[in-house]
Amino acid sequence: MPATDLDQIVNLCKRRGFVYPSAEIYGGFRSSYDYGPLGSLMLRNVKDAWVRAMVQERDDTVLIDAAILGPPQVFEASGHLANFSDPLVDCTVCKRRFREDQLDDRDCPQSKKGCTFTEARAFNLMFKTHAGPVEGEGADVYMRPETAQGMFVNFANVLQTSRKKPPFGIAQVGKSFRNEITPGNFIFRTREFEQMEMEFFVPPAEGPKWYSYWCEARMQWYIDHGIPADLLRIRAHESDELSHYSAGTSDIEFKFPWGWGELEGIAQRTDFDLKRHAEFSKQRLEYFDQTTNERYVPYVVEPAAGANRTMAAFLLAAYDEDIINDETRTVLRLHPRLAPYQVAVLPLSKKDTLSPVAKEIFGRLSKRYMCEYDETQAIGRRYRRQDEIGTPLCVTVDFDTLEDQSVTIRDRDTTNQERVAIADLESVIAQRLGF
Ligand code: GAP
Repeated sequence: MPATDLDQIVNLCKRRGFVYPSAEIYGGFRSSYDYGPLGSLMLRNVKDAWVRAMVQERDDTVLIDAAILGPPQVFEASGHLANFSDPLVDCTVCKRRFREDQLDDRDCPQSKKGCTFTEARAFNLMFKTHAGPVEGEGADVYMRPETAQGMFVNFANVLQTSRKKPPFGIAQVGKSFRNEITPGNFIFRTREFEQMEMEFFVPPAEGPKWYSYWCEARMQWYIDHGIPADLLRIRAHESDELSHYSAGTSDIEFKFPWGWGELEGIAQRTDFDLKRHAEFSKQRLEYFDQTTNERYVPYVVEPAAGANRTMAAFLLAAYDEDIINDETRTVLRLHPRLAPYQVAVLPLSKKDTLSPVAKEIFGRLSKRYMCEYDETQAIGRRYRRQDEIGTPLCVTVDFDTLEDQSVTIRDRDTTNQERVAIADLESVIAQRLGF
């Protein structure tokens, strides 16, 4: 049973070292989070799984890593300076500020009935700062609100250097920043977050075909990595929900404990961005097809996912409690590629005779997998800890190992144990994990 209460995951994350409130020793920094020893590994695994599917296993995409800070021209051209805003209203009684589109009715959630609101004003969500020693006009820079613009401004560079031709994609994983008015639900909506985005450039007539293709492929990615299909759905945007650049968007949504929430949007950005950047930069951002002698501005289909909220969804979906030997255990049934550790190496006791053998095994396995070495506590408690942090396999070194050169492999999901010769360990683990 996946977690039905967000607190189950929030507590586990804090207790085991996945996610901590940021700057906690100073009372916390609202809606910011730090990823601890396990969370940083898992978040990296989520991003790596995305890069594997979107870049490594394809021959039509490349990866870039563009700057986070950008000059105003980029965001004038992209439309973010003019359009990337939320409508805000102030309650005239409590003076609190709310997003108009998130007020269920016309009553203030704080002051309740009888209040009035000011007219809605557009509040731009971009973080602005300044570069260099002088503040003011000319020194303004913005922190990117999406990684996407890095792909558009580098379109010509990538085209020249990568020898790709449409249909081809430019992918990027990295931090984005939005001054969200209503951050919340743990790592679901924060002001600093990581995106995994692909701009897929196609001949204009192929836009609809690739839009369907990416909606299907991206949905499958979540299922392949362990989210049950009944916790996922795809929902087309109503026309009044569409971003300023989009001619059509579908969201992949996950059934969070508080309701359906977006993990990823797949948008038809048409030629909006390339045309705007061409106009503002006065550069040619087109593709010349030498076989047909045709010059055109490619259309873009954009699958845009968030790494943090996707990690939250993977955690919620993997969470389970079952009964083992009359005891309730918590187990994270994470996909082996997403689990912080793939293997834990556990000497049965701290005896000097077992540690050297266990360390030798750890040394070998850790070249290939993220492994944990743990020789504290009773073995049962160590198994429970590995179950709770999602480690698919435990390798236990016991006193028989010294005689028979074999170890026990314990499976997280079934708790079954199997005796395996040390000589066969790597191939058995590779077969069990699937990589
Ligand atoms: N380039 C298109 C774009 O940025 P978006 O739907 O605004 O589209 C894409 O963002 C994804 O980024 C979202 O589906 C979500 O997973 C993630 N995301 C957006 N805002 C977020 C926030 N404040 N906190 C965490 N993740 C966020």
